[in-house]
Amino acid sequence: MSLPEQQSLESAYVMGTFARKPVEFASGRGMTLVDAEGREYLDFLSGIGCDCLGHCPPALVGALDAQAGRLIHVSNYFYIEHRGEVARHLSDLLSRYAPEGEDGPWKTFFTNSGAESNECALKLARLHARRRAQAEGGPDVPAPYHVVTVDASFHGRTMMTLAATAQAKFHVDFAPMPDGFLDVPRNDVAALEALFAAHGPEICAVMLECVQGESGVHPLTPEFLAAARRLTREHGALLICDEVQCGIFRTGRPFGFQHFGIVPDVVSMAKGIAGGFPAGACAARAEVADLFAPGDHGTTFGGSCLAVAAAQAVLDELDAGGYEQRVAEVGAYLRERLAALPRVHDVRGLGLMVGCDLAEDAPSAPEVVSAALERGFVLNATGPRTLRFLPPLICERAHVDALVEALAAIV
Ligand SMILES: Cc1ncc(COP(=O)(O)O)c(C=O)c1O
Repeated sequence: MSLPEQQSLESAYVMGTFARKPVEFASGRGMTLVDAEGREYLDFLSGIGCDCLGHCPPALVGALDAQAGRLIHVSNYFYIEHRGEVARHLSDLLSRYAPEGEDGPWKTFFTNSGAESNECALKLARLHARRRAQAEGGPDVPAPYHVVTVDASFHGRTMMTLAATAQAKFHVDFAPMPDGFLDVPRNDVAALEALFAAHGPEICAVMLECVQGESGVHPLTPEFLAAARRLTREHGALLICDEVQCGIFRTGRPFGFQHFGIVPDVVSMAKGIAGGFPAGACAARAEVADLFAPGDHGTTFGGSCLAVAAAQAVLDELDAGGYEQRVAEVGAYLRERLAALPRVHDVRGLGLMVGCDLAEDAPSAPEVVSAALERGFVLNATGPRTLRFLPPLICERAHVDALVEALAAIV
């Protein structure tokens, strides 16, 4: 079927929640995508940070193929292969770089997406606050339930995670939002302290992305993160790190928080965890995780046979393949090359999670994305003047060179 035919079918039968680019991708291998007419593209978006081993990596394809031929789904009522191994591997990865005494173990609830992982984290924070309040004041005492989030954050599209997303533009048409969220300006330690001074007894958690993704790649400062860790501890609240975008080796460490000298209580993840197969997870330190009893939370598909087989293949490959070093090196090279381009400024990020702003006299970011697509590069704009780069973690210097050459011509 031709692209115009696909476009007319989708406009008739698919909800128009995405303004799609005029290309139909048909296959891919490594960093390369191939469209329905056989044209090749270098992919610097990787399905919004999911295809961390590139397209159709043999380890992932082999694991899915083998698992699909054995068993696809049986529900969470039963034990299956891989689930326990993946949860143990996540616990090991979460414990890496942690000081003694804060190094786990962690327990995981498997989900299908980032929003679901955050929903799980938010429920856990409320349950934790309720159990603490009950232990101190009896069964009917009210529990704190407010969650502090950071301006320009993004936590998902369910009603609860949308309310956690501190960006008014996402709320306007869907009001009223679920109650219970307090926003604080990004990296403003004094404002965070003032919020806790005014509302401390009402707060059950702080939820944040150590590197904000959807707002255009903005790392939080170590001071702000240290304050969030200190204040949550002082008030018996939880620190939740949303690692949906910055987790799973994206920043050159298994998790983004590991660059900042903090250890959270709860970590949500998704995107890269199964290399593009839909999967997510919410992990919590064991004493928090153990608050969930059978029936408190659930999912039909989360942690299915295929999802955990895929996650095991991807995590094994990332962990054994030297990706921490490789991602750090190529990421630094990408930032250096971008910063040397004319009309490009404020290049920022960690590892292969990179953003930059375009000068006022440059084409707009959406125009750059369209021009790049015509030249065979898949990019992403998060705002009118902001580009974001989330290539597969197999990205090499030569790919960066090709990208920068194309950008130089466009910008
Ligand atoms: C930091 C963060 N949290 C949550 C989400 C929501 O993830 P999903 O789209 O898988 O529900 C995203 C998606 O981009 C994200 O970047």
